[in-house]
Amino acid sequence: MKIIVVGTGFVGLPHAAVLAEAGHEVYAYDIDQNKIDAYRSGDRERIEEIVNEPGLVEAIEETKDRYLFFTSDLAPIIEGTDIVFMCLPTPPKRDGSTDLSYYTNAAHRLGELLAKRQDERRVVLVNKSTVPIGTARVLQKILEEHGVKNFGVASNPEFLAQGGAIEGSRRPDRVVVGADTEEDFDRLRRVYSQFVNHVRIRYLETTPETAESIKYVANTLLLTYISFWNGIGARLGEIYPNLRMEDLKIGVTSDSRISTWGSYVSNGAGGSCFGKDIQSLIYQLNRAGRSTDLLQAVYNINEYQKTYLIDRAVYEAGFNFNNKKVALLGLAFKKRTNDMRDSSALKAVEALLARGVSEIRAYDPLAMNEAQRTWFNPEKNHLFSRITYHESPREAIEGSDAVYISTDWEEFRGLATTIEKAAPPPYLIIDGRRMLPDYRQLVAKGYAYLAVGDVYLKPEAPAEKTGANGQERVPAAAEA
Ligand SMILES: NC(=O)c1ccc[n+]([C@@H]2O[C@H](COP(=O)([O-])OP(=O)(O)OC[C@H]3O[C@@H](n4cnc5c(N)ncnc54)[C@H](O)[C@@H]3O)[C@@H](O)[C@H]2O)c1
Repeated sequence: MKIIVVGTGFVGLPHAAVLAEAGHEVYAYDIDQNKIDAYRSGDRERIEEIVNEPGLVEAIEETKDRYLFFTSDLAPIIEGTDIVFMCLPTPPKRDGSTDLSYYTNAAHRLGELLAKRQDERRVVLVNKSTVPIGTARVLQKILEEHGVKNFGVASNPEFLAQGGAIEGSRRPDRVVVGADTEEDFDRLRRVYSQFVNHVRIRYLETTPETAESIKYVANTLLLTYISFWNGIGARLGEIYPNLRMEDLKIGVTSDSRISTWGSYVSNGAGGSCFGKDIQSLIYQLNRAGRSTDLLQAVYNINEYQKTYLIDRAVYEAGFNFNNKKVALLGLAFKKRTNDMRDSSALKAVEALLARGVSEIRAYDPLAMNEAQRTWFNPEKNHLFSRITYHESPREAIEGSDAVYISTDWEEFRGLATTIEKAAPPPYLIIDGRRMLPDYRQLVAKGYAYLAVGDVYLKPEAPAEKTGANGQERVPAAAEA
């Protein structure tokens, strides 16, 4: 198959690499010349600056210039194409609706070129972006407007989780294909021949509207699980000192009808999908005059989690952030990625700056360049100049008055020792991910400890909370 992947970001690049591994002739196209240059160079550092995913560079190395080609010029590759995958950004607008401009711009460009192609062969345009229900018809109209002949449109939503994009593309839970004709279904079966009739992978063929809906319903259900535990589990743990959060989780999820995924408490779920997808679904339902109370509550709880520990530090621990230095550990929205889109750390930074901190001493194992390049740009907000960047947790903690743990990087589980070495008590530890198994020792040594899902533990608190049967805390699991 000759395949064009339009948009080579977090979805398009891994998708293109895995299609190339399956022996298709894949052209990965992007309007961003810098990205294309970096991918073409094959240079690990340059590629990982853009998309940092385990196994991605290796997959590109294996296939580049044999099955996988990178280009920023669409016209020369259009002839003879069997399939076009649309992997374009669909960010939220202010009102929660989806900004489809990237998507429709690409569709118009494709329409222009496909209308002029010489070959008569059927081409199928397949949508992998998360788009409002009904967008396959929008794409169809755009192509018709341009006079494109012999084409089909299909919806094939992407379910990969960042941090596992390559593995998720090689072995997805399911492949959902929404199309209108047997011919188009058949085309997609040939692309995904390794998944059709697979013993473990569900291969579902349905209508485009159903496929588009599946993506929204799945993502909002996942966020509902997370908000359920944050909105109920965390609140209970914060009220009752003798409540053991890990036992609560085990006891509840031992019921085979209840998901273990999402059964953790945290400082909210970030990333480019959950927040935007639930806002978009709320908008779509509202526009049709339907109730969105449940979804709105789920969204609000998730947003609340992102900063409420900072408020608790003020009201429960009596900590005054004004002119204080705070170490911020973890900037990426979850571990194993450099992606900071909608990361909880962004909201924490806003809240800390609003409370007058003199310095935020930031550290992340992967996202430091991303942070400096885009989000924490002093030209956007002069207060961002209060953010300093550090090479290790220890360096970030040294000289600070408090630490805020925002991301569930495994290396933070060993922070107790680092804190003891770098910051003598009195010192406040704010743990948004319940990452410190040794928190009791720290409290006994005079540290103040405030974690999501727990009562505030004063330094040398006499009534310490114990983990169940001496168990260690389990850190918040990774989100999708
Ligand atoms: N990131 C995820 O984990 C994830 C998971 C599932 C679904 N999705 C969905 O997939 C879509 C893409 O997400 P992403 O995270 O890969 O976005 P991204 O921003 O990382 O990548 C999009 C790419 O499209 C390129 N682009 C923009 N306009 C273009 C045009 N006109 N022609 C060619 N290229 C163009 C950009 O330069 C960029 O490289 C979104 O709809 C998202 O909701 C994302």
